[in-house]
Amino acid sequence: MSAPEPQRYHVVTFGCQMNAHDSERITGMLEQRGMQPATSSDDADVVVFNTCTVRDKPDQKLYTQLKQAKGSKRRRGGAQVIAVGGCLVEAQRDILLREFPWVDVAFGPGRISDLGNYLELSDGEGAGVGLVPGSGEGYYGIGDERVFASELPTRRERPHHAWVQISMGCNMKCAYCIVPAVRGRERSRAFSEIVTEIEQLAADGVREVGLLGQNVNSYGNELPRDAGPRTFAELLRAVDAVQGIDRVRYTSPHPAHMRDDVIAAMAECSTVMPQLHLPAQAGANRVLKAMRRTYTRERYLDLVHKIRAAMPDISLSTDIIVGFPGETEAEFLETVDLCEQVRFDGAYTFSYSPRAGTEAAAMEASFIPAAEQQRRLEHLIATVRSIANERHERFVGRTEPVLVEGADRRGRQRLRGRTPHNVKVNFEGDAVQGDIVPVSIVHATSESLLGRQVVAVAAG
Ligand code: 5AD
Ligand code: SF4
Repeated sequence: MSAPEPQRYHVVTFGCQMNAHDSERITGMLEQRGMQPATSSDDADVVVFNTCTVRDKPDQKLYTQLKQAKGSKRRRGGAQVIAVGGCLVEAQRDILLREFPWVDVAFGPGRISDLGNYLELSDGEGAGVGLVPGSGEGYYGIGDERVFASELPTRRERPHHAWVQISMGCNMKCAYCIVPAVRGRERSRAFSEIVTEIEQLAADGVREVGLLGQNVNSYGNELPRDAGPRTFAELLRAVDAVQGIDRVRYTSPHPAHMRDDVIAAMAECSTVMPQLHLPAQAGANRVLKAMRRTYTRERYLDLVHKIRAAMPDISLSTDIIVGFPGETEAEFLETVDLCEQVRFDGAYTFSYSPRAGTEAAAMEASFIPAAEQQRRLEHLIATVRSIANERHERFVGRTEPVLVEGADRRGRQRLRGRTPHNVKVNFEGDAVQGDIVPVSIVHATSESLLGRQVVAVAAG
């Protein structure tokens, strides 16, 4: 008798790095249950949508895909579990419940293990995955008791790179942002637990870690003050000291919490990479204030100056929102000017998108028309792209140590990896995944570099 076919899963991820990390946990958990990846959602016993709700676009994309999922479930005679996890579940649960009754289980961003419990339950009842009776009955545990997903197994997208969650939630009150509502108040993970996890990752062959949190540099604020190290700067130093970890990064810090001790730790720790994502959001003081960013344009520029004084070659990237309610043309041009002054190596640019329940969503009278938002966005993108291109030119002619991620999709002898500044490089060479090799950079674009592996010539 042949062994039963393994059950198959399909995970679709939207949104930020934190979500990508949560999806690694979801995948790891499903594989621990003996499941294997499906080739498409039609072929899957369990389909998981890990959602984002930071802007309206991902919401709409999810709704389209959920409608398609109804079709795949029908084609399988109902034998498919449709699960929805992540931030949208927390923000839009009513819509989800009302309009998509074929969804079997939904779990908030802090509740990944609920998916496992649900599958366990449906197995336990003898129904088996895919035969869960009724629809919409599996909703529970939406964000009530948040837990760090770090206890769950994981399947890393890049074997030599791991994301490590250091905190969850956010205590800021940015007027445009839904995150505090969906991810809750900030909670820091215990210092020693993080370091232990990273030691374990190093023992598993991981060479690069990315510390993750909604507001990483306020890490530790609510941890007890007399129980040993607890600040973000101390954490960077502790991670730097872990044997086997060659590269440390983090995302995202808040400019208002970027203290001198963090800058000093970055500059002094050789494994903390010369790269920083520092979301500015806007360049005009009135807009920054309306956004409740708690810093001014001048303070942001001072901070950049301080960071560059300590690390002259650092790569800085940012997030910018254009068309915040009431933003004038002159204020928008101040944002463009900020980008020109800082000279970012890259920027994620967004059109303001109202999120129900946030402060800015109530400023309807001063919303900027979509066509105008689009015009500003295109103007800003052209500016940041040309600056990024120029910034990347500094690498041409340099030899950079590149952590190899694998074969370049374009084939033979072409590999891909990342530099210390986190720039993607495609290069010719014979290194293997996980190696750090010298690559001579021959060409730069705003997004990536092209190079050739430097092969040591034997002496004699
Ligand atoms: N509209 C547009 N962009 C937003 N972001 C967050 N909320 C909104 C919104 N309502 C952007 C910010 C943030 C990034 C993750 O998404 O720039 O840093
Ligand atoms: Fe999207 Fe924010 Fe949730 Fe990340 S934390 S998935 S950006 S809503």
